[in-house]
Formats: sequence, C-alpha cells, structure tokens
Amino acid sequence: MLTPVWLVLIALTTVLSAAEKLRFASYYGSHMVLQKAPAQAVVWGYGEAGAVIALSLSGSNNVFSSSAHVVNGIWRITLSPVEAGGPYNLIIAQINTNSSMMLTDVLFGDIWLCGGQSNMAFTVGQIYNATEELAMASKFPNVRIFQAALEQSRVELDDLAGVEVPWSRPTAKLLGAGPFTHYSAVCWLFGRYLYQTLNYPIGLVESCWGGTPVEAWSASRALDKCGLKSSVSSISHSNPAVQGNSWENFALSTKWNSSVLWNAMIHPLLNMTIKGALWYQGEANSDYNRDKYNCSFPAMIDDWRMAFHQGSEGQTAIDFPFGFVQLGTWEKNNLQDGFREIRWHQTADHGFAPNKRMKNTFMAVAIDLPDEKSPWGSIHPRFKQDVAHRLVLGARAVAYGEKNVSFQGPYPLSVYFDQTSLNITFDQNISATHSDDAFEICCPVNQTCLEDSRWIPVPTKKLSSHSILLSIKQCPTKPAALRYLWRDWPCDFKACPIYSSDRILPTPPFLINK
Ligand SMILES: *[C@@H]1O[C@H](CO)[C@@H](O)[C@H](O)[C@H]1NC(C)=O
Ligand SMILES: *[C@@H]1O[C@H](CO)[C@@H](O)[C@H](O)[C@H]1NC(C)=O
Ligand SMILES: *[C@@H]1O[C@H](CO)[C@@H](O)[C@H](O)[C@H]1NC(C)=O
Ligand SMILES: *[C@@H]1O[C@H](CO)[C@@H](O)[C@H](O)[C@H]1NC(C)=O
Ligand SMILES: *[C@@H]1O[C@H](CO)[C@@H](O)[C@H](O)[C@H]1NC(C)=O
Ligand SMILES: *[C@@H]1O[C@H](CO)[C@@H](O)[C@H](O)[C@H]1NC(C)=O
Ligand SMILES: *[C@@H]1O[C@H](CO)[C@@H](O)[C@H](O)[C@H]1NC(C)=O
Ligand SMILES: *[C@@H]1O[C@H](CO)[C@@H](O)[C@H](O)[C@H]1NC(C)=O
Ligand SMILES: *[C@@H]1O[C@H](CO)[C@@H](O)[C@H](O)[C@H]1NC(C)=O
Repeated sequence: MLTPVWLVLIALTTVLSAAEKLRFASYYGSHMVLQKAPAQAVVWGYGEAGAVIALSLSGSNNVFSSSAHVVNGIWRITLSPVEAGGPYNLIIAQINTNSSMMLTDVLFGDIWLCGGQSNMAFTVGQIYNATEELAMASKFPNVRIFQAALEQSRVELDDLAGVEVPWSRPTAKLLGAGPFTHYSAVCWLFGRYLYQTLNYPIGLVESCWGGTPVEAWSASRALDKCGLKSSVSSISHSNPAVQGNSWENFALSTKWNSSVLWNAMIHPLLNMTIKGALWYQGEANSDYNRDKYNCSFPAMIDDWRMAFHQGSEGQTAIDFPFGFVQLGTWEKNNLQDGFREIRWHQTADHGFAPNKRMKNTFMAVAIDLPDEKSPWGSIHPRFKQDVAHRLVLGARAVAYGEKNVSFQGPYPLSVYFDQTSLNITFDQNISATHSDDAFEICCPVNQTCLEDSRWIPVPTKKLSSHSILLSIKQCPTKPAALRYLWRDWPCDFKACPIYSSDRILPTPPFLINK
C-alpha cells in the first residue's frame, strides 16, 4: 500500500526531464471545472524554455485570450473572471513550434477539495442504497470529479506524481470502482446536493488516504506551531482497541512520516483556485498525538488557507470555507479509544463550529449514525447521505451565506443549578427525549474531574421547548462540570436525546466546566 520513496522520485524526475513538451499540469484536462467568478482561475503547465504560450478560452458567449512566457520550464496564466457555466474549449499554443493542445468541455463553477482518511475515501459503491445512487450518477453531468493518486514524498512536489481519476463526468463505474478506491461518497454526495441547490457546475477534487494522521497532511510550519516534531520521523500507531479487523486497521493502523502527504497530495494543488475544502479525518489521531489535535487540526486549516491563497496569487480566499465531519461511532461502551476527545478537539475544544478559533468552518455531526453491521467495520458507517446533507447545510450557511439555513444542532446557552436540579437552556428550540445516561456530571473529590470514575450519569427530569432539567440528587458535592454524549457510541441511529425542532440536526457532544 505504501509507495516507496524511489517511485515518487522517478515520477518527479520524469516531470522535470519532460518539461520541454507543451502540456498542462496534471490536474487540468478536458471535462474539468475551473473556479468561477468573482475569483479567477489559474492555469499552468510546462513548455519549452523561453517560448511564448498563447492561451485562448472560447465558448458560446465568451472569448478570452492571454499569453505568458515559459520560465524555468513552466508557464502560468490567470484567467479573467468567468461566470458559472460552459462548455468552453481551452487552447494553448506554443508560438514558434506549432505545438498546441485543446481541452474541451470545460465548465466554470465551484471547486471543492475533499481530504482526510478512510471515511472520506469510502466510495459511493460502499454506502447504503449504492445501487440507486450509482444509477443516478449520469444524471449529474455538471458535477465533475477528479482524484489524486496515492503518493507520498519527502519534499514538496509542484505537481501531482499521479492521477487516480482524471477530470470526468460522473458514471456509475467511476463512482463505484471498488472499496476505498473511487469515488468518495461524502465528496460526491456533497457535490451533488450542492449542485441541486446552486444549479451551476461543481468540481470535486478528491485527495485522501485511509489510515492517515493529520501530521501527514500538515506542512512543517503548521506542526511547529503545536510543538509537534516536524522533521521526517516515523510515526507508529498502536491503538490497543484494534483487534485485527483489517478494515479497522485500514482506518487506524498507521506508519507515516510527517508532511509526506502534504508534500505529494496537497502542495501540488496550491496553484489551482478553489472555493473551499471538506475534511473527514481524526480516527488515526485517536491514539496518536491525540491531546494536541485541538492545536494541530486548526493549525492545518490555517496553513492550508494561507498556502492556497498564496499559490493562487490571491485568487483562493485567505479564509476559504472549510467543512469537516465530526467523528462518528466505532465501538459500543468504549471509553478508551479516544474518539470522544478527538470529537471535542475537532472543534478546538469549543464544541461547535464555526467558533472563535475556527472561523468560517462548518461541522457535520455524525455521532448518531452508527452502523454496527458495516461490512467495512463499524468504524466505517454506511450512512454517508446524512453526513453529506449536514455538510451541505453548513456550506449553504457558511460558504454561501444563506441566511435562513440552520446547520447547527441546539447548543447550551446557559446552565443553572440548585441543590437538586440542573437546568440547561439551549440556543434554539429543541426536540428532546428523556435519557438516563446521556448526561453526566462530575462530583469532584479533590477538584479533579479527569478520571471517568468522578462522573456520574444523571437522568433528565423535565423537558421543555428550549431547556432540559436534570436531577442531580446523587451528587454529594456541588457539580463541577457537565458533559453530554461523552462516549464513543452514546445513542442508536438518529436517536440521541436532543435534536433541532425539525429533528434533522443533533446536539453535538459537549463538556461544560462550572
Ligand atoms: C508550422 O506549421 C506550418 C504549416 O503546417 C509549417 O509550414 C511550418 O514549417 C511549421 N513550423 C515549424 C517550426 O514546425
Ligand atoms: C435508501 O432508500 C430508501 C428508499 O428510497 C430510503 O427510504 C432510505 O432512507 C434510504 N437509505 C439511506 C441510508 O439513505
Ligand atoms: C520515514 O522517514 C525515515 C527517515 O528518513 C525513512 O527511513 C522511512 O522510510 C520513512 N518512512 C515512510 C513510511 O515514509
Ligand atoms: C488541548 O487539549 C489538551 C488536552 O486536553 C489541553 O491540555 C490543552 O490545554 C488544549 N489546548 C488548547 C489550545 O485548547
Ligand atoms: C505555485 O505556487 C507556489 C507558491 O506560491 C510557487 O512557489 C510555485 O512556483 C507555483 N507553481 C507554479 C507552477 O506556478
Ligand atoms: C427566511 O424564512 C422566512 C420564513 O420562512 C421567510 O419569510 C423569509 O423570506 C426567508 N428569508 C430569506 C432571505 O430567504
Ligand atoms: C419555540 O417553541 C415555543 C414553545 O413551543 C414556541 O412558542 C416558539 O414559537 C418556538 N420558537 C421557534 C423559533 O420556533
Ligand atoms: C484527596 O486528597 C487528600 C489529601 O491530598 C488525600 O488524602 C485523599 O486520599 C484524596 N482523596 C481522593 C479520593 O483522591
Ligand atoms: C430552565 O430555566 C429557564 C429560565 O429560568 C426556564 O424558562 C425553564 O422553564 C427552565 N426549564 C425547565 C425544564 O424547568
């Protein structure tokens, strides 16, 4: 599964020695989507040293032309802003050598980058209702897909060393090739649902790899900010909870050097203009640098934003929207697997997104979508439609500024208590059911709430339209903290105790200190 470094080096050498021939960088091709106005798409490629490259874009109601010199074997052109639509032909010609290339069926729309580990790599062919979903693929020719090949590198690459799926119109075959190959269900469904609300082309760029920790996807700059070793070093992951299920291992068992996927699978993409990114990762950090994930994840987001902004010479927004999926469930009754800590750290310990530390982000909660019988291991739930629906709500509200779209489940506004009860008021109306163990309070001895033995489950006493009353009679002292859904697998399918009033959005796990 791991690509030896020498393979990457050969690929890189091939790129350099062939730089004379006129061509586009690896991630431009017929059927692609380029970022629409108001941003400007960046296109680049290779040519003969010193040559002049002429580029022209022609479509039904738009013609654009420009030229650039080849410098160090590379040409680069920033197009004028183009409104959503198409198709266009994109032609480049190297003056003096008569060589030219034409890309056809090029659309303009929004580009979303999809990253992470195996739950992002999980394909449309693996989800519930796969047959119906695959059959629908060809009905969405304006949602285009591209996927980077799995490659690692010790140095930052300027272009992808390999392409798994070149820009294509979607087909059942491309979307359901085989387990964890292509195409990402979360990425595809997000694109499809988004297309259904925006009605203009969407370009999806998948670049993800099962079992990978956040450190592999982060530049050393970002790791340094969190005191993580940024030099090339071996990471070995040994979650004791892994009991030999190969698909579990696929999500968790890892041996990765820092930055190797940033170098090979993200850095090459920086010069492309994008609208935003999606991320489904964290399982592989549940037992690896877990306590730093509240730093490393937000730091990676900041760094990607800065780098994409620079790489596109300002065309990709410096604060581009970043959506992510909060970890789902893995094992019932497991308190040791680190999932509850990672869920919390995914929000930089705020409980919700966006927040003060993570601006312009949105989060899809997945804690209520367990799938015990998943053939791919319970760590890979098949309910990706719900995940994608929740992500799209977040994108509509955060990335597209739709005022009326609610995308966050109810969250506590305030907590009051007296001798016998504790009253939690929420920021929106709730649809709640009684529970004996979803809420826990810490009745501290010696001020510490660190150990699980300090926490006792407390039953709900009364539910109202926007608040919940808990009985805290069992606590011998004043409660020091309150937590909700603080387990790997706290509820059954769509049956957590608190939802938005329309029952679409669950309240995420939370931890509130007095
Ligand atoms: C370019 O093409 C024209 C017409 O086909 C031909 O006459 C000319 O010799 C070519 N020039 C080069 C540099 O190949
Ligand atoms: C699968 O399709 C059926 C019939 O349309 C629907 O009722 C069900 O909710 C779908 N399941 C998922 C997980 O989307
Ligand atoms: C990680 O880096 C070390 C030291 O450079 C190297 O020996 C090893 O092969 C690398 N491992 C992987 C999986 O890249
Ligand atoms: C991150 O979590 C760790 C462990 O829970 C905690 O000690 C640290 O203060 C947190 N850091 C931030 C920046 O929230
Ligand atoms: C891509 O962007 C980076 C960062 O700005 C720059 O160093 C690099 O030269 C660019 N590559 C191309 C091909 O323009
Ligand atoms: C928001 O929703 C309300 C009630 O459904 C509606 O009256 C209003 O026009 C909507 N506003 C926008 C901007 O869509
Ligand atoms: C919340 O619920 C209360 C009580 O049922 C109702 O009066 C109020 O209109 C609801 N508010 C919203 C925003 O739906
Ligand atoms: C609380 O602290 C005291 C003094 O340090 C110690 O004797 C006692 O064992 C502690 N109690 C518990 C339950 O940890
Ligand atoms: C909790 O407190 C609020 C504000 O005082 C009150 O309106 C609400 O009824 C209380 N909730 C319950 C369930 O008693």
